[in-house]
Amino acid sequence: MAQFQYEIADDVPDRFGTHVIEHLSDGGLLLLSGGHTILELLAPLRSSLAEYSGQPFAIGQVDERLVPSDDDRSNWMHISTGLDALDYLQLPMITCHTPTEKQLLADCETPDSGVLEARTALANGYAKRYEFLLAEYQPWSVVHLGLGTDGHTASLFPDSLALSNRSSLVTYNRDPSNANPLERITLTFPALNRFQFRIVVATGPDKAAVVERAIHGDGLPIHSLDPTNTLFLVDRDAAQGLTS
Ligand code: 6PG
Repeated sequence: MAQFQYEIADDVPDRFGTHVIEHLSDGGLLLLSGGHTILELLAPLRSSLAEYSGQPFAIGQVDERLVPSDDDRSNWMHISTGLDALDYLQLPMITCHTPTEKQLLADCETPDSGVLEARTALANGYAKRYEFLLAEYQPWSVVHLGLGTDGHTASLFPDSLALSNRSSLVTYNRDPSNANPLERITLTFPALNRFQFRIVVATGPDKAAVVERAIHGDGLPIHSLDPTNTLFLVDRDAAQGLTS
């Protein structure tokens, strides 16, 4: 099994911005993941992109939770806020078209099976739309990924349906363990592996075990990433288990 390349850095947010700029070919597509780590990366990324002198570029999402775009759990809300006033083509995964969609997005706490079925259909609809949107945009330059303590990346959770989806580029998914709530829309591994460069960012001591297993072990969802042109960018706390 080919091993992932990794970089241990004391200034992960700044190094992230530098790597993105180095790989954002002119007019390229950059996709960002959600979660908490990304929140530390957005300000330095915004500074790096503000200095970027290449062609106009697009920023979109690796995955999204099925919530209203003004909900604190929305990945796009955090991305678009963090990159505020930057000049780029915005490619959010969720754009409400009708009042029905707005209500279904708002119904995320409703346990009713009919609502859950309708939300799943809505997620699949958004996934299909995003697939067409991304197909229009080339080159697929850089994709940023997080790493969950269970080894998931994007919204590709252990034992979840989307892990075996080799035909779609974007799909509906959810975490069967319910450790990561809400229906999701996510790129699949075939889509992630099409990017010219993949950067996985993990920081903090709680990621040390999963980073060690990602780099030296196997059997995690993250191991479906093509190790070629994939870089793990980690801080010293997350790198505790790595032998240099
Ligand atoms: C999501 C994210 C998810 C995240 C990882 C790591 O929507 O939850 O896209 O894949 O990147 O769970 O999250 P942290 O950086 O918060 O640990």
